[in-house]
Amino acid sequence: MKVKRRNPAIRIYNHPPVSVTVRSFAKINLGLRIGARRADGFHELLTVYQTIAPHDSIRIQVDRGTGIEIRCVDPRVPRDESNTCYRVVNKAMQYWRAKGRVVVEIEKRLPVQGGLGGASSNAVAALLGLERVLKKSLPAEERLRIAAEVGSDLPLFLVGGTILGVGRGELVYGLEDLPAIACVIVTPGLGVSTAQAFAEWDRQLTVSMPSDRMSELGRGLSAWLSASYSGAPRSGRGRAENPLLELVRAGIKNDFEEVVFPEYPELSEGKSALESAGAKYASLSGSGSALYGLFSSREAARRAVSKLRRQGWAAQATVTLTRREYWKRVLR
Ligand code: C5P
Repeated sequence: MKVKRRNPAIRIYNHPPVSVTVRSFAKINLGLRIGARRADGFHELLTVYQTIAPHDSIRIQVDRGTGIEIRCVDPRVPRDESNTCYRVVNKAMQYWRAKGRVVVEIEKRLPVQGGLGGASSNAVAALLGLERVLKKSLPAEERLRIAAEVGSDLPLFLVGGTILGVGRGELVYGLEDLPAIACVIVTPGLGVSTAQAFAEWDRQLTVSMPSDRMSELGRGLSAWLSASYSGAPRSGRGRAENPLLELVRAGIKNDFEEVVFPEYPELSEGKSALESAGAKYASLSGSGSALYGLFSSREAARRAVSKLRRQGWAAQATVTLTRREYWKRVLR
């Protein structure tokens, strides 16, 4: 008797539901320069991303049936096809031509529209969880392609640690794994739209040429990197402090502050509050609204948090996550 075979590429997952929980860490931007607006509407970027310890949790479950369900008690998180987790899961399932009902449960602790990459990180965590549950993995290039299609800030979460971001932010290069540093995150209770911040940047497009702005940060980064990698003799005693503090002292800045601070003066005040609480460097992260400060010790960060909270700021002490720690903690 001839057995009719199903298309082998299509699998139906009719095993009992299996679930995996993945930590979805946040990022900050250690400097961000906005370059020219490209023909596709995106802007050239030059930034250094750094993963940090605060995180959401993403639970992935694959069940019988079809479709993707997003669960989240936070009403600000979309539950439809616009959710970044939905989009990534959909693309991965299509790539594998896999069938099954995927449930993505988001436990939200990171701010929404906070500049900490929460939605992007959630999507990457969903993808990693899905791979785990289905015991499948995408080729690395495919994973990066899907991530970049969904948003410029996703690919960084496939690398973790300290990362150079170029292109529209989606081309990511892992930098040397540097020691963790204490930081304080201030999360004002407001959301900033990245698209609107870029639009405002275009409206106000100021003094210097976009390419000059990029080269300026580029030179600072090159000098910092060459001190790390080149082995070239340098003057003085070499690195006396955490290399991340040396990086921010290289004169880096976040261009978004120029358009976001005038619109939300409270954020500029938050940066000043971090500085007067002892931050060695303070900045807006991405297009905000979160601000961060880097501190010389965990104790200094804790003291700053007490001071900031007394002044009414929502602040938390945390640490940066090296690439090694990031991957150790993502899947638990
Ligand atoms: O890629 P992502 O979805 O994060 O981008 C959100 C919006 O921000 C884009 O639609 C675009 O308007 C703007 N953007 C930009 N240049 C970038 C990244 C984002 O103009 N490099």
